[in-house]
Amino acid sequence: MSTADLNEDSEHTRRDFIHIFGAATAAVGAGAVVWPLVSQMNPDASVLALSTKDVDLSAVSEGQAIKVMWQGKPVFIRHRTAEEIEEASATSVSALKDPIARNDNLNGSEPATDENIVTGENGEARPQWLILVGVCTHLGCIPLGTTSGENRGEFNGWFCPCHGSHYDLAGRIRKGPAPENLLVPPYQFTTDSVVKIG
Ligand code: FES
Repeated sequence: MSTADLNEDSEHTRRDFIHIFGAATAAVGAGAVVWPLVSQMNPDASVLALSTKDVDLSAVSEGQAIKVMWQGKPVFIRHRTAEEIEEASATSVSALKDPIARNDNLNGSEPATDENIVTGENGEARPQWLILVGVCTHLGCIPLGTTSGENRGEFNGWFCPCHGSHYDLAGRIRKGPAPENLLVPPYQFTTDSVVKIG
């Protein structure tokens, strides 16, 4: 992880959307050419490696937050304190604007409880580690939210000043125009302190 990765999120930039276009493939008549074509389309190991990112969290102490880049997108990783976990866990799903946990590690319909948001790919929940794609679900700005507590918005999580969206300590939208909670990327811990994103 680079020094830049360890910088707190204090910038405000607009996200570049990356559009991935599916390639339309014309029908192939001759069976003999099908296999080479399919073979070419399979990503090799180097491409697959680029789609994941290992992050060593051993230097991120309790209360700190970092931002890393994954597939061109910022990912927020916050080492939450016991008080922050308690606050996030105490929030009732019925109080949420978006009641669904937008967690790529789950099947997409689970309620936005704190536990469902901190659950990784292997079903393991580590409440102290909150891992979110740092892209506002309104129009794609990068929300603010520093370790020191500045610019965290009214719910102590992240604040997107573009149009005033406030996210809480589990990345759930609580106020403002953003329609959905922040996305949880696919991830799993591969050691006690290393998380693989993607
Ligand atoms: S892009 Fe975040 S509030 Fe509009």
